[in-house]
Amino acid sequence: MTAFDVRPITEEERRSTFDLLRRALHSRRVTDDVWARIGESWPAVHKFGAFDGETPVGIVSSYDTEIAVPGGRAVPVAAVEGVGVRADRTRRGVLSAMMAVQLADFAARGLPLAVLHASEPTIYGRFGYGSAALGKTLRVARPAARLHERVPAGGDVRLLTPAEAVKDLPALYRRIGLHRPGMIGRPDSWWPISHDRHVGPDGDHLVAVHSGPDGDDGFVVYATITRRSLGSPDEGAVLEVHDLHAAGPVARAALWRYLLSVDLVSGVHARHRPVDEPLALLLTDHRHAATLAVEDDLWLRPVDVAAALAARSYRAAGPVVLAVTDRLLPANTGHYEVGPDGARRTDAPADLALDVGTLGMLYLGQWAATTLAAAGRIEVRDPAAAVRADELFTTVTAPWCGTHF
Ligand SMILES: CC(C)(COP(=O)(O)OP(=O)(O)OC[C@H]1O[C@@H](n2cnc3c(N)ncnc32)[C@H](O)[C@@H]1OP(=O)(O)O)[C@@H](O)C(=O)NCCC(=O)NCCS
Repeated sequence: MTAFDVRPITEEERRSTFDLLRRALHSRRVTDDVWARIGESWPAVHKFGAFDGETPVGIVSSYDTEIAVPGGRAVPVAAVEGVGVRADRTRRGVLSAMMAVQLADFAARGLPLAVLHASEPTIYGRFGYGSAALGKTLRVARPAARLHERVPAGGDVRLLTPAEAVKDLPALYRRIGLHRPGMIGRPDSWWPISHDRHVGPDGDHLVAVHSGPDGDDGFVVYATITRRSLGSPDEGAVLEVHDLHAAGPVARAALWRYLLSVDLVSGVHARHRPVDEPLALLLTDHRHAATLAVEDDLWLRPVDVAAALAARSYRAAGPVVLAVTDRLLPANTGHYEVGPDGARRTDAPADLALDVGTLGMLYLGQWAATTLAAAGRIEVRDPAAAVRADELFTTVTAPWCGTHF
């Protein structure tokens, strides 16, 4: 067993823990130049390291932001990022120890929710996170794919210079707003790493912005990927969409219309798009937009179950009583009544029993309670209650995060 201590990192340990993270994720160490550009995005705040003596062997990080929950409220959330353990110290409980400290910190700071993107789906369930919003990967064929004539049109799409992108994108993202459950705010510290990767000196992405009658209302960050090689000389270039946000259907259609108009590419690929984004339906032939995969995207953990359940709204249906268990934050273990008027703790007998990670799966409306019950993740004590829970928790739009962190 390796001995290690878990504690907040110091100012002096920012660079070494960032390098540790990069190595765990199979990326190169940052150069001094790059660190000068992005170091401010890795402050010594809300970061817990595992140390063998003075040497860091693991790191977990998060930043505080807001998340849109069903009903439209923006609720405080910890966005967990920067998770890595040194390759020669994995599978000996380093992450488990760091996660326990991090969760206790979230609870002590009164955060109702925590979210993350998982590199592998097997890692975070044991810490009470559940797969809460899915994303789909699309491939749209060019030049075959065309928007049909009734697709709303209007406004103008223009390319930004890198300097304009750095200056304008943060405000444009804020302007578009958190209009789907699962979307999160991007604090100022989020942008430098993204800018550096995509539009900075080492980045190769372009940024196009749509403006409508009220000004800029959508953007896409994309790159051209060349697939031609000795082995496949006929393979053309494709556009790869990294980040696409639009305030409404006109801006969204205009951005896709623009992407599909770019010459000399054989297709447009996009990963982690909303599962209900109607791209195929914008086309004259929906088969030109193929869904290649639907994967877990955002994972969510209720940190304060009572506050989390009270923060979202519910659709009209009779109330249900949930028995929730939480191994790591036992104060959450208890019964909660959820109904169209809201949610509260109760002593009433439970209709459905589930662990806190499964509640995370239910929370944004991605999964139906009856589906989770059929998969053995919810214990049903009253079958009619599972159907009521479906109605209560369902949302009009599918949840979606749309932010890499
Ligand atoms: C993922 C990672 C952080 C796990 O750290 P770790 O210190 O090895 O995790 P722990 O030892 O605390 O593991 C706890 C449990 O999870 C399991 N587990 C951890 N990582 C796993 C993985 N990648 N695949 C399958 N199981 C995993 C362990 O086997 C252990 O199971 P047990 O409790 O039944 O024994 C580490 O492997 C890593 O840095 N990977 C590369 C970077 C990465 O993927 N980071 C996550 C970014 S989202």
